[in-house]
Amino acid sequence: MTDKELHVSKIENGTVIDHIDAGQGMNVLALLGIDGSGGESVSVIMNFQSGTVGSKDIVKIQNRELNQDELDVLSLVSPDVTINIILDYEVHLKHRVQRPKEVIGILTCPNRDCITNTKEPILSKFNITDEIICCEYCGTHIQDVAQHLS
Ligand code: CTP
Ligand code: ZN
Repeated sequence: MTDKELHVSKIENGTVIDHIDAGQGMNVLALLGIDGSGGESVSVIMNFQSGTVGSKDIVKIQNRELNQDELDVLSLVSPDVTINIILDYEVHLKHRVQRPKEVIGILTCPNRDCITNTKEPILSKFNITDEIICCEYCGTHIQDVAQHLS
């Protein structure tokens, strides 16, 4: 590797979310509720040039293993991500994400009058069927997930 090549460090332990559609890296962080306040060490690589798929984003979260429910929600912004669980610098597990049947407490309803947008202590809930993401409480559909992250 020459000085001019981009060097992306490997991590010792944690989770690498790879093959994120270019431009979706920040939305991946938002969907995971990661904003730095938890103290984790997080790297976001945007527009990484990869030989096979053109450009992609990558998120590396050190010292944290995310669970499948947290990760499946990522399919809503980037269906082809791969999840790599890293232990002692090795890829210990590699898996894909599946479109969840429901998403609770992560998206906000576009309908201002929805009960989930009032002072009631009710978490948002969206049911997902094929192409449609539908509010459990008022039936409003979400078209663009990135616009409705909590
Ligand atoms: N990775 C990392 N730290 C490690 C090991 C791997 O950050 N200690 C990252 C790699 O940089 C890569 C991802 O985890 O972005 C997957 O690693 P690996 O399976 O070795 O790469 P590929 O074989 O290219 O993965 P795939 O077949 O999923 O494209
Ligand atoms: Zn609603």
